Amino acid sequence: MKDAFGRQIDYLRLSLTERCTLHCTYCRVDEGVCPKIQELSADELILLAEAAVELGITRIRLTGGEPLLRKDLLQIVRGISSLSGLRDLSMTTNAQMLAEIAADLKEAGLDRLNISMDTLNADLFKELTGGSLQKVLDGIQAAIAAGFDPIKINVVLMRGVNDHELDDFIRLTSKYKVDVRFIEYMPIGNSNGSERLRLNNQELITARPWLIPVPPRFNGQPSSDYTYEGALGRVGFISPISHRFCSDCNRIRIMSDGSLRTCLGRDAEIPLREALAEGKDGLKQAISQAILQKPEHHRFDQEVLNGRNMSRIGG
Ligand code: GTP
Ligand code: 5AD
Repeated sequence: MKDAFGRQIDYLRLSLTERCTLHCTYCRVDEGVCPKIQELSADELILLAEAAVELGITRIRLTGGEPLLRKDLLQIVRGISSLSGLRDLSMTTNAQMLAEIAADLKEAGLDRLNISMDTLNADLFKELTGGSLQKVLDGIQAAIAAGFDPIKINVVLMRGVNDHELDDFIRLTSKYKVDVRFIEYMPIGNSNGSERLRLNNQELITARPWLIPVPPRFNGQPSSDYTYEGALGRVGFISPISHRFCSDCNRIRIMSDGSLRTCLGRDAEIPLREALAEGKDGLKQAISQAILQKPEHHRFDQEVLNGRNMSRIGG
């Protein structure tokens, strides 16, 4: 369906949990153990997805926290992937536990995987996330072996922390058939200092004139993609600050507590639990009303959004 600004809303980001096995500085700042919230059940998540698909959602991305923490993940993937009308089911993961489940996810109907990996240095990885780089690399290999294509690697660039690795990450796309995307640090949660750490993607692109723009894989994707001679995968730049893409935004988000968010860069949320109790028709009505309230653009340039950490919103 269309929102009040004529944008076709066909993409849902569905967060399965706020819990995460890592503590990336830009994502879960100042958060110790995640507060125990009541997560939607597998049946509730599948019903939500069904209502959304009936309203014209054709792409669903499962997010978190870390979605692989859900014990009922395969049930959720099977239920959502079998919805008729859905064209693309994807997931964003930190890949710490991916190697052992990649093939099962593919078999359950997951189409695509995006993987967070901000450094190729094992010590720095441990320092930034608390996790193991080797597990991510094993996860990527398992995902390639399971036939996932494209696999996208997400790198949040931070000045003086991992920006010296940018060209190493680009080189990865000529060694493996993976896309690498560089993401501008967004001021969400208690991300104090995001401005100091943020790099301007437009400047990084200009400094690399050998990067050749290629058309998006699908309409409404936030990344601008590039290729170069010898590339097996794409180099993408997600630039919400230096190149606002709100006029093409096709997304809504539902979080694991059942709140709907129509914009990543605004704090407003609409609770769906009551509508969920009414069943699919009530849900469809609540979701359509919310879509009509989707704001024209984010407010990253004006404020740091403190209401929720990214780990709660799902990116
Ligand atoms: P596909 O295009 O389906 O592959 O997914 P994606 O790149 O949108 O998803 P992913 O979870 O890998 O997110 C990559 C980065 O893009 C994260 O930092 C997200 O927060 C950011 N992102 C995704 N959607 C939006 C959006 O609507 N607005 C903004 N500002 N950032 C977004
Ligand atoms: N700014 C930019 N990207 C972020 N992510 C999490 N927090 C931020 C932030 N503050 C990214 C993660 C993950 C994706 C879902 O969102 O790297 O790959």
